[in-house]
Amino acid sequence: MWGVSSDDRSKSRSETVEVDPNHPDPAAIRRAAGVIRGGGLVAFPTETVYGLGANALDKSAIRAVFRAKGRPSTDPLIVHVASIEQAESLTSRWTAGAAALAKEFWPGPLTLVLPRSEVISDEITAGKPTVALRVPGHPVARALIEAAGVPVAAPSANRFGRISPTTAAHVISELEGSYELLIDAGPTTIGVESSVVDLSGELPVLLRPGGITLEDLRRVLPGIDHSERQSTAEEDSAGAPGQFLRHYAPTTALVLVDGGVDGGSADLVEELRSRLGDEGAKTAVLDLPADATLAARELYSRLRAVDMSGAELILASVQTDDGLGRAVNDRLYRAAHGRIVADSARETVARLVGLIGGST
Ligand code: TXA
Ligand code: MG
Repeated sequence: MWGVSSDDRSKSRSETVEVDPNHPDPAAIRRAAGVIRGGGLVAFPTETVYGLGANALDKSAIRAVFRAKGRPSTDPLIVHVASIEQAESLTSRWTAGAAALAKEFWPGPLTLVLPRSEVISDEITAGKPTVALRVPGHPVARALIEAAGVPVAAPSANRFGRISPTTAAHVISELEGSYELLIDAGPTTIGVESSVVDLSGELPVLLRPGGITLEDLRRVLPGIDHSERQSTAEEDSAGAPGQFLRHYAPTTALVLVDGGVDGGSADLVEELRSRLGDEGAKTAVLDLPADATLAARELYSRLRAVDMSGAELILASVQTDDGLGRAVNDRLYRAAHGRIVADSARETVARLVGLIGGST
């Protein structure tokens, strides 16, 4: 006890416990589960990114998650569960499409949006009639949810709008002081968030590309539609929630460079870098592996590193859209707040110089 009121408990002190990612120490898991059951917040690894977890059935714990992140109450949370049966029990209508996708991809980086049951509160769903559910595959996440014995609501463990955390150090730099316990199991393996599929409407829709590719999802449900990149304003919650254009953003201005196929983007990046250098601009290039799976794994760490490099402007090449490349491009596009350049004309360079020092 640190002599703080129960309202301030989550602000009192944050501790980190290290565990083996594949064989987490049962005592550490029991302790974390106790924090969740007691209404506290636990940051924990999933296979995608680290999450900030709370008992999904405890409204005040859910409100603490929103406060910790600075997240608008209009943006609903994902509820993490241990099994397909538990997921089904939190819905009022479990569809054939949900059954098929869950059977194929759970546990794993897929979130399903379905009509909610009455045990799911407005706090979690931002008043929506649907709930987002996921059975994560990471052994630590699974052990924690099972030991807690309750569904665990968990957004990515970053401040709202910022870069998602793929290591414990990222979580500490974003949220230290806002959670009781952080379970450090090393870097996450997939590196981008789960794919979110909405099954509550007439047609299944991919709301957020992520760890399961659209190609793989369509092998199970060929009819899956995907919403084109949204330009929803941050204030506007009328569109797909969480699809704010300004998301996953570094503090340094970032611009997406599209130089066409066959390595054209890399050439254009170099060209722009040299022209910007001539203008005296300190430019950094976000260097990502060509392989989309590796690019996804490295994306957020490298984005943080270039953001802290002292550069005034970050240039990032558009990746090929297949496999996890679609999710990587989606995050880059949002990090760039939708800014794409496709040439190195004088006006383009001037526009980029104009971004420096402005608000990102
Ligand atoms: O990989 C992940 O999904 C990570 C890990 C921790 O599981 N979690 C995560 O949570 O990315 P978060 O809160 O950062 O993103 C949740 C996304 C948001 O885009 C949110 O708007 C959407 O899921 N979402 C949640 N509930 C929804 C609902 N009822 N309808 C539509 N979208 C929903
Ligand atoms: Mg997030």
